[in-house]
Amino acid sequence: MHSQLHLRDATPADAPALNHFVLRLESEALPTIYTLEHRLTIESELAAIRRLTDSPNSLFLIAERNGEIVGAMDMQGMRHPQCRHVGYVGLSVRKDQRGQGIGTALFSSLFERAKSVGVTRLELEVFANNPRAIALYERLGFHVDGVRPGLVKLGSEFIDVVVMGRVV
Ligand SMILES: CC(C)(COP(=O)(O)OP(=O)(O)OC[C@H]1O[C@@H](n2cnc3c(N)ncnc32)[C@H](O)[C@@H]1OP(=O)(O)O)[C@@H](O)C(=O)NCCC(=O)NCCS
Repeated sequence: MHSQLHLRDATPADAPALNHFVLRLESEALPTIYTLEHRLTIESELAAIRRLTDSPNSLFLIAERNGEIVGAMDMQGMRHPQCRHVGYVGLSVRKDQRGQGIGTALFSSLFERAKSVGVTRLELEVFANNPRAIALYERLGFHVDGVRPGLVKLGSEFIDVVVMGRVV
């Protein structure tokens, strides 16, 4: 039996725990997600939290279990005045907690909250080598909007990136 899942907005106080969460994810060296551009520090995590929580059309949600972060979802509202109704979504769930509905719960919360920050269209990118994640997003109402062929190079292999979208 799992203890209850608690969803809430991230705050600056979450920077150390989020930093740990992201470094742990990075250490999996998954072939299905972008690697980090810069070395992550607690300070850079704090800056990322502030950037999202200070932005009027962005959200940063976290899922907690037993006081530990088990999932994180950021929705970055686009900045261009003509695109402020669009939010770009990123999501990850802790390895030992995947496949238990945490991603789905974070999306449900996002679908409820997006409009309150003026976002009516969501976009995300998913590597084409991740069919389970694509199936999950389709189940959640996302459609394939397009493919960016060979956008990602993994060793000598080129991976397509699928752009998916959904109106909320
Ligand atoms: C993709 C991810 C965010 C989904 O979150 P989740 O909490 O595991 O998702 P849910 O439990 O709500 O839904 C489970 C569905 O997610 C999909 N899924 C994708 N990758 C998965 C994984 N590694 N483990 C379990 N489920 C995964 C499956 O379609 C699964 O459905 P199924 O039970 O019919 O196979 C999460 O598994 C994850 O962080 N994976 C590793 C990183 C990654 O690949 N991210 C994708 C970025 S676009």
